[in-house]
Amino acid sequence: MTQGSFISFEGGEGAGKSTQIRRLAERLQTAGHDVVVTREPGGSSGAEAIRELLVNGEADRWSPVTETLLMYAARRDHVERVIRPALAEGKFVLCDRFADSTRAYQGAGGDAPASLIAALEDHVLAGTVPGLTLILDLPAEVGLARAEARGGAARFESKGLPFHERLRAGYLEIARQEPERCVVIGADAALDAVTDAIWAAVAQRLNL
Ligand code: TMP
Repeated sequence: MTQGSFISFEGGEGAGKSTQIRRLAERLQTAGHDVVVTREPGGSSGAEAIRELLVNGEADRWSPVTETLLMYAARRDHVERVIRPALAEGKFVLCDRFADSTRAYQGAGGDAPASLIAALEDHVLAGTVPGLTLILDLPAEVGLARAEARGGAARFESKGLPFHERLRAGYLEIARQEPERCVVIGADAALDAVTDAIWAAVAQRLNL
C-alpha cells in the first residue's frame, strides 16, 4: 500500500497543528484532491473512546508504558478502520499526530523503552506509516502558554516544563534520524508564514 499521500502533523502542545491541517486540507481540496482529516489519539469511534481515558484525569493516571499500549490499541483501530481504507481509495490522509507522538511523549518525555515502541510500530502499523511528517517546532514554554490559553487536553499539558522540553528534543531527534520523511517547520512564526512553509514542503515532497 502506498503511503505517499499519508501526511502526519506532529509537535508539542500549542504548536498550531489544527489550524494548519485545516488550511492544508482546504488547499488540497481546491486542487481537486479527496482529503480525510483525522487525529490521534482518536479518529475512529473505538479510538475516540480510548482517547477519553488518555487525555483526562491526573498526570500520573497511567505510566508511560501503559499509555504506550493504550495509544497503540487506539492507533490500530484507527489504522484498520479509517486510514488504510482512505489510502486504498486514493485519498489524502492528514493526521493530527501519529506514531511519532508516542516516540516523543511516552519515549522521550516519559520512560517507555524505545525497543517496545519500535516493536509496536513494526507489528501494529505493519507498514502503514506516513510518507511525510511535518514537525511543528516551537519552544516548550511558548507552546504551553498558548495551549493553556486555549484549554484542551489538559492531562499532558500538566506534566511540567522539563517533560515538554524532553519531548521537543525527541521530535528534533526523530527529524535528524529520518530526514527523508520529516520536515521541521518553525511554528513560532506568523500563522501565514507557517502555512506557506508547510505548503512548500508538501508541494516539493509530493510533486504537487
Ligand atoms: P491533542 O489532541 O491536543 O494533540 O491532545 C492529545 C494529547 O495526547 C497530546 O497532549 C499528546 C498526547 N499524545 C501522546 O502522548 N502520545 C501519542 O501517541 C499521541 C497520539 C498523543
